[in-house]
Amino acid sequence: MTDTTSAPQTDTTDAATIADLTLEEKASLTSGGSFWMTKAVERVGIPAIMLTDGPHGLRKQAGASDHLGLAESVPATCFPPAVGLGSSWDVELAERVGAALGTESAIENVGVLLGPGINIKRSPLCGRNFEYFSEDPIVSGLLGAALVRGIQSQGVGASLKHFAANNQEDDRMRSSSDVDERPLREIYLRGFQRVVQDAQPWTVMCAYNRINGVYASEDPWLLTSVLRDEWGFEGLVVSDWGAVNERVLGVAAGMDLEMPSSGGVTDAQLVAAVTEGTLDEAAVDIAAGRVLDLVRKVEAGAGSIAGPLDVDAHHALAREAAGRSIVLLQNTGGLLPLSPSASVAVIGAFAQAPRYQGAGSSMINPTRLDNALDAIIEYAADDAVAYAQGFTVSLKDTADSAQLRANAVELAASRDVAVVFLGLPAAAESEGYDREHIDLPAAQLDLLDAVLEVNPNTVVVLSNGSVVALPFRDRVPAILEAWLLGQAGGSATADVLYGAVNPSAKLTETIPVRLQDTPAFLDFGALEGHVRYGEGIFVGYRWYDARELEVAFPFGHGLSYTAFSYGDAAASVTESGDIEVRVSVTNTGERDGREVVQVYTSLPGSTVQRAARELKAFASVALAAGETREIVLTVRRDDLAYWSVRAQRWIVEGGAYAFDVAASSRDLRVQAQVEVTGDVVSLPLTRESSMGEVLAHPIAGPIVMQAMAGMSDLLEGAVSIMPEGVDMMKMMQSFPVGRIGMMAGEGFSPVMIDQLLAMANASQES
Ligand code: BGC
Repeated sequence: MTDTTSAPQTDTTDAATIADLTLEEKASLTSGGSFWMTKAVERVGIPAIMLTDGPHGLRKQAGASDHLGLAESVPATCFPPAVGLGSSWDVELAERVGAALGTESAIENVGVLLGPGINIKRSPLCGRNFEYFSEDPIVSGLLGAALVRGIQSQGVGASLKHFAANNQEDDRMRSSSDVDERPLREIYLRGFQRVVQDAQPWTVMCAYNRINGVYASEDPWLLTSVLRDEWGFEGLVVSDWGAVNERVLGVAAGMDLEMPSSGGVTDAQLVAAVTEGTLDEAAVDIAAGRVLDLVRKVEAGAGSIAGPLDVDAHHALAREAAGRSIVLLQNTGGLLPLSPSASVAVIGAFAQAPRYQGAGSSMINPTRLDNALDAIIEYAADDAVAYAQGFTVSLKDTADSAQLRANAVELAASRDVAVVFLGLPAAAESEGYDREHIDLPAAQLDLLDAVLEVNPNTVVVLSNGSVVALPFRDRVPAILEAWLLGQAGGSATADVLYGAVNPSAKLTETIPVRLQDTPAFLDFGALEGHVRYGEGIFVGYRWYDARELEVAFPFGHGLSYTAFSYGDAAASVTESGDIEVRVSVTNTGERDGREVVQVYTSLPGSTVQRAARELKAFASVALAAGETREIVLTVRRDDLAYWSVRAQRWIVEGGAYAFDVAASSRDLRVQAQVEVTGDVVSLPLTRESSMGEVLAHPIAGPIVMQAMAGMSDLLEGAVSIMPEGVDMMKMMQSFPVGRIGMMAGEGFSPVMIDQLLAMANASQES
């Protein structure tokens, strides 16, 4: 195997091309040489390159490779996983984190970092939600693109994953995500499209699962028609580790690089298929060519950044990012921030032993690890802080629960404030399997109840990678959703508790009241190999809003230690067709802070089914105390489009769109409206076209109206036997024109209908 620790070396001036390679060499290039390396072709000086996890830090295994992360990986900065970083809604911050990830990868001679993951959080039960950004594709797409830009700015490739519709972990390696075209396009693919078009990741990683019956790794529609032909992807498609089902089908479909190694078995299959004539050699050339392009990009980037890693600077960035990831869910009576002189009971095992990342392939070996307890002690006055463990981190009640609870309650009773750290044990959520419920362990809920009885000044700090039910939310004055925050999460939590950092994060996923309320409740999990995406486009807040359901905390919600007011909003269509929304926002409080301003669109009177409102733009804006600033947010015209299944294309419907400028999906502050010119889409008329569609046609409509006048006897006869007020014309609207002869007899022969349709269609073409 090629040395993994040194940068690839070749003389690029007379670098080999695909034409210099034998069929066997080309085939060999398109699969892994080991768990993390591609294959070299030493004869012509093509080096092997390394691809490794990802996404919120570098997981480069130091010794022999193993999949589960059991082998030690080199120390690297553990930044907040996507569940945290996403809550910042800050593309500039995400890009800086991306650049830091790129730097660490470059120092370690890693060519491609396997991330970001941008799958939609379809259900809070997905075990891997901690690695994903949001239930909304615009949030996932914009933050994903920012990370890719950052990583690639350092000469290292990103790998956008997991393409696509990988929204659960149970049975992920074979289940089929059965998704209708509209939600597939509008919800599950839209974020990927955004990242590809805005940031051109060097690689896209195809998912394990099937989509509507076809493995993502061998789906020509997904990997070629959509990804390349429609979106213009220029990079390489790599399989998720072990996602290849049939290699030959995969290569023909546009799956370029199989990872990890197949030990040469599938390379031989490719060679045999070409030799037997069942696979065009050109397909192998294309895949191998893309591997070679990737190798060249990696070579060009290699060696530009020398170590050693600036551990302190990256830790500081991890702390900044973690502070920006913490959502202040509520703060009744201004209990937070804490005063250093307040006596504080810090309760809960997570305060001392933080849960800071999720289990599975993304586990980073951090360069250091802060805990909240130590950081709180540093902020507070001498002896102001005492700690009680409160519970054992476990899914089940443990024998010591009662004693730990009693100790914690005694401490809480004696202090001004109790800060209770609750959260999910690591085993509750992981790559590879899903959750069964969204509840915190009972021992923790019991502990909180007991603490509240003795001290109403209680702050809850949550550590969890995916949302949990908050049955106590009406009884606890202050709640911080601290997610999984990476290696500096402990100190960042103290920064927020004591107000050194003014919280500014907002929810990128709804916190439901009950699991039963969630959109995929009836359809989550594979049934005989199929996961039915029955909620359609109504994912996340789109669902709760359409059904007018109460939620615990809505999408987009998050408080600050200051307050913001919104002035009037105005919207206008720019020359490019995009829509600019202007609003002035004022920090009305006495602290500097940041506000995440959100723009939601709706189209009253739309002819297609739509969510009540959809997020289309956002900005994280820093405002000093008292400052007012005009913010300009751009809604891309393309993002107003819905996917028309009949027309097989995106369509922007014309009309007066409403643009709600909002502090959350349920805190709409000001609205602007603007008329948007729609796309003119005329579908050819066929015998299957409805009478309504034919009547709406400029040529065919009047002719049919006239012919129908000749059918007045028939219509009158029919009307006379119907109950009063029944609208015959309305009844006929959905009648296929090809079958109208059935009613109209001679008056409308099939020949006449065909002539009419031909005339109408010809007029459209001319
Ligand atoms: C995961 C990927 C990861 C790969 C390599 C797979 O099981 O789904 O996200 O990049 O392993 O570790």
